[in-house]
Amino acid sequence: NEVLQQLLQAFGGPGRSVLGFPPTYSMHSILASGTGTRWVPAERDAEFGISPETVTAAIAEHQPDIVFLCGPNNPTGTPLPIETIAAAYDATDGVVMVDEAYAEFMPDDAPSALTLLPGRERLVVSRTMSKAFAFAGARVGYLAAHPAVIDAIRLVRLPYHLSALTQAAAVAALRHAPAMLAMVDDIKQQRDRMVTELQAMGYRTYESWSNFVLFGGVADPHAAFEALLEQDVIVRDLGIPNHLRVSAGTAEETTAFLDAMRRVAAVQPPVRVEA
Ligand SMILES: Cc1ncc(COP(=O)(O)O)c(C=O)c1O
Repeated sequence: NEVLQQLLQAFGGPGRSVLGFPPTYSMHSILASGTGTRWVPAERDAEFGISPETVTAAIAEHQPDIVFLCGPNNPTGTPLPIETIAAAYDATDGVVMVDEAYAEFMPDDAPSALTLLPGRERLVVSRTMSKAFAFAGARVGYLAAHPAVIDAIRLVRLPYHLSALTQAAAVAALRHAPAMLAMVDDIKQQRDRMVTELQAMGYRTYESWSNFVLFGGVADPHAAFEALLEQDVIVRDLGIPNHLRVSAGTAEETTAFLDAMRRVAAVQPPVRVEA
């Protein structure tokens, strides 16, 4: 969150705009508003994707100073094609920011936006240790970009903003990266299992490259949320009509969710939804 804010402080601000593609990470528009940067929402394709054509057309229409892309996207899990990022870069003279908070959950052979950095000095890629490293409490995130972009960010960030203790914790976590990331493959398996079993129950699911699954067809998301909570399961109701989002956990936790969801489906059967 902090590096995203710093990027907006450096390159956004009053009189400037940032283009985004909702539904996406809610802090993107909140940070825009906090830095006085105009948030311009653009439409996604069906199934929440963003094609190279869609991103190019939105940039041509809105002429933003900054483009925010989120891949994989929160809250939908949607993959962000590398071609879409390259097309966005070619379509603008501004900064293209790719939020890769969930990159570690992508398929192993999927290229990261990091591979596009050489030769693209206006491209910025952010990552966090909050998700795959399960280290949100440490508050460590980072971005990768051309040295000129990093210099610009140095102008706005507070001196010594990352404490010595935080840095020591991050370095220790990185040294133990294989152990810290050991759960990622298990979580991906449980995510795919949730997709299969939710579909079998009659819900509509979406391709997810993240550690959560958005599913549609929930007749009353609020009532379903409450019914799940009574069974000690917490999901996210993001205000997308007829949809809920659930995070993958251990095999046991995932089983608990799926069992609870079957009981919810018995009371409020899945309904048809359009994406
Ligand atoms: C897409 C996305 N980007 C960034 C963040 C923020 O992560 P951090 O804990 O590093 O501020 C989140 C957290 O939910 C997220 O979903």
